[in-house]
Amino acid sequence: MRKPYFLPLYAACFLAAVCPSFAVSQESAPPLAAATLQPERIILNLTADPQHEMAITWRSAAGAPQGKVQFAVSQSGPEFTKNTTEVLALSEALSLDVQEQAGFQATYNSVVLKGLTPATRYVYRVGDGTHWSEWFQFSTATAKAEPFSFVYMGDAQNDVKSHASRVWREALRTAPDAAFWIHAGDLINRATRDREWGEWFAAGDFIHAETPSLPTPGNHEYSRGPVLSPQWRPQYTLPENGPEGREKLKETAFYVDYQGLRIISVDAPLQHGDAEERAAQTAWLEGLLKDNPNRWTVIFTHFPLYSTAPGRDNIHMRDTLKPLIDKYGVDLVLQGHDHGYARGSDHDAKDAAVYVVSVSGPKMYAVGDIDWADRKASYTQLFQVIDVENDRLTYKAYTADGQLYDQFELRKNASGKKRRIEQIPSTPEFWAPGKRE
Ligand SMILES: [Fe+2]
Ligand SMILES: [Fe+2]
Repeated sequence: MRKPYFLPLYAACFLAAVCPSFAVSQESAPPLAAATLQPERIILNLTADPQHEMAITWRSAAGAPQGKVQFAVSQSGPEFTKNTTEVLALSEALSLDVQEQAGFQATYNSVVLKGLTPATRYVYRVGDGTHWSEWFQFSTATAKAEPFSFVYMGDAQNDVKSHASRVWREALRTAPDAAFWIHAGDLINRATRDREWGEWFAAGDFIHAETPSLPTPGNHEYSRGPVLSPQWRPQYTLPENGPEGREKLKETAFYVDYQGLRIISVDAPLQHGDAEERAAQTAWLEGLLKDNPNRWTVIFTHFPLYSTAPGRDNIHMRDTLKPLIDKYGVDLVLQGHDHGYARGSDHDAKDAAVYVVSVSGPKMYAVGDIDWADRKASYTQLFQVIDVENDRLTYKAYTADGQLYDQFELRKNASGKKRRIEQIPSTPEFWAPGKRE
C-alpha cells in the first residue's frame, strides 16, 4: 500500500524494442469499472512472515466507511462467528486523472493479520460493518520446512477474463492445495487501465481471496518513465523487504521464505531499463543469495535471461543476474514476456539453474529453434505446479486443457549437490520449426 497520487498517462509499453504489437482484440467495454460499497477485488498476499501473518487487500467506493476484517480460527460449523477478532484497515484513496481513466476514484483497504499460529486454517471476511464479503479461508505456513506446492503463471495480459480465467481455474483443479501463486509479470496490458485490472480480479475471483498471490511486474505494469501502475501498490500488500531506501522498488522487489524455499521477485523493467535501480537491486539480490538458510531458491522475474526467439534478448538481465544465479546455485528462474513456452538451462554450467518462460493468456508469439531449451511450445497456454520437498523439487507444466506437457525433478543430497532428472511426458511437442504467427 502507498500514499495516493495522480499520474499522467504515457504510452503503456515503454520498452518498444521488447514489446511488439499484439494480435489479440480488446473488447470495447468502458475503461472504468466503478468501485462500489460492496467489498470487491479481495486478495491475499504473503508477507515476509507467512507462518504468522497474512495480508488482505480489497477495494471499495471512494468515501466508503472505515474498512475492517473479522477473522477467527476456522471450525467445522458456523460457531466461529461468535469468536471473531476485528481489525481496522488502513485505507487510502486513489484518484486518477489520466486519459481513459478520468474520474477514477476508489478506496483501497488493507490489513496485515499478525500473531497467527503456524499451520492453521483461518476464516475471514472484509467489509465496513454493513457491507460484508462472504467468509473466506486460508492457511498459514508451517513452522518448519515441510512439503508444499506453488503455482506459477506466465503473462495473462490480454482478454484476461475471457481467456486466462480457464487456465487459472484448471490450475485450481490441478493443485487445489497450492500454498501460493506467483504471476511472472504482464498481468494486464495497459498499466493504468482499470477495466483490465477489473478483469484480472474477476478472472481469479475467489482464488485471489483464498490462495495468496505474489505478483512481479512486467513492462505492461509500467508506463513510460518508467512509472509503475498507480493501482499496483494500493491493490496489493506485498513484502517491503526490497533494496533499502529504493522507493521505486518497493513491493516490486521482495522475497519470502516459505517452508524451506526462498522465493525472490526481481523487478525486471527496472533491472533492464534503469541503471541506478539495477545496481541497487543486483546488490540486494546478492545479499539474499549469499546469506540464505533455505534449501531451495527460486527467482521470478518478467524478462527472460534466455529468450524464446532471436531479437528478444535481454542482455542486461543476463549480464547482471546470471553470474549470481550460477555462483549461488539458484535452482529455478521463472519468467514471462515472450508469450511462448521454453524450459532449459545453460548446458555448459555445472549445477545450472533451470530457466522457464511461460504464458497463461491468449497472446502468442512464435518460439524459435532455440538451442538452450529442452522442451518448448508455441501457441499453447500453460500453467505450472512446483512441488517442494526437502530433497526434491518437482516441476510440472500443464496445458490449458489440463494435459501434462513438461516435467523434471531436481534432487539434492545431504551436502546440497544437485542433479536434474528429466521426466518429459510423451505428449507431442507443440512446436514446429519456422511456424509463424
Ligand atoms: Fe507480455
Ligand atoms: Fe512483457
